[in-house]
Amino acid sequence: MKQRIKQAIENLKQLTASNLEELEQLRIQYLGKKGLLNELFAQFKNVPNEEKKEMGTLLNELKTSIQTKIESLKDSLEQKNEQRIQIDDLTKPSYLQTTGSRHPISLVRNEIVEIFSRIGYSVEEGPEIEDDWHVFSALNFPPEHPARDMQDTFFVEEKTDGNNILLRTHTSSVQVRTMEKQQPPIRIIAPGRVFRNETISARAHCIFHQVEGLYIDKNVSFVDLKQSLLYFAREMFGKDTRIRLRPSYFPFTEPSAEMDISCNLCNGKGCNVCKGTGWLEIMGCGMVDPNVLEASNIDSKVYSGFAFGMGVERIAMLKYGINDLRLYFENDIRFLNQFKSII
Ligand code: PHE
Repeated sequence: MKQRIKQAIENLKQLTASNLEELEQLRIQYLGKKGLLNELFAQFKNVPNEEKKEMGTLLNELKTSIQTKIESLKDSLEQKNEQRIQIDDLTKPSYLQTTGSRHPISLVRNEIVEIFSRIGYSVEEGPEIEDDWHVFSALNFPPEHPARDMQDTFFVEEKTDGNNILLRTHTSSVQVRTMEKQQPPIRIIAPGRVFRNETISARAHCIFHQVEGLYIDKNVSFVDLKQSLLYFAREMFGKDTRIRLRPSYFPFTEPSAEMDISCNLCNGKGCNVCKGTGWLEIMGCGMVDPNVLEASNIDSKVYSGFAFGMGVERIAMLKYGINDLRLYFENDIRFLNQFKSII
């Protein structure tokens, strides 16, 4: 009898039922009136007294095993049934999968990087939390110079030696870091986030993105600057784009200029985007001031170079006709979805 019980417990493991009728058959076979369990319990009275304890335990074990087995078979059959109901109608169209898309700022930044990488520029990055040296002093901003006010700086920590910690106001700081660690030839662009304490409006934001560029080698002249930026303008805004350079001022470049492109909406005729002038300002540029080269230990008698810097938001606005800077940061899905088809 002991053998039969043990065998029955073992057999239980193999049991399966492919539908509810089969399961009911099993239940009758084991738990029914004339089932195995009742039969064994009937034989229990013939068991010698000294074996009763052990046999009783075994019998109870068999009983609970049967009950759990039948319950679990029942559960899995019910689950299968539910699944079958869910995929009931195989002709149903599937649900539409919504996918994300790249942010317009990333799209335009990638495009700028790509255009410059085609003419040999590599990408450099630097910290967003900077010190005064890399953002101002090394770029020929003397202490107390009014040019520091041009960029409304967020300060993080005041230092007794004057090398305050601040949020970078432009990515020119990355140019300084590159010159410090590398001798010319240098040909880099520095894309990144910058911060200025401006009141948020349609035309200004306290966080925005720049791509700045730096090219230093022997015999680099203003002609190289003009030609490289003309190439960029035509790649970005179309092959008929014209550029013009207006004299300007930056402490780190001499001479300095602002670059305009012919308005890509009216083709230079004058419209409300270019305010009737036919031109759109897109970046600052100039020949690197010898003081800047010397501050980073580059011999200004041997080397010269040019630098430029543009706002990614501004380029994206002109490229896609976006009229409010705040849209870039609101993450409104209706705005973002418009850039889905552009890769
Ligand atoms: N750093 C300047 C700015 O943020 C842009 C610039 C870069 C101008 C390089 C000239 C040369 O406004």
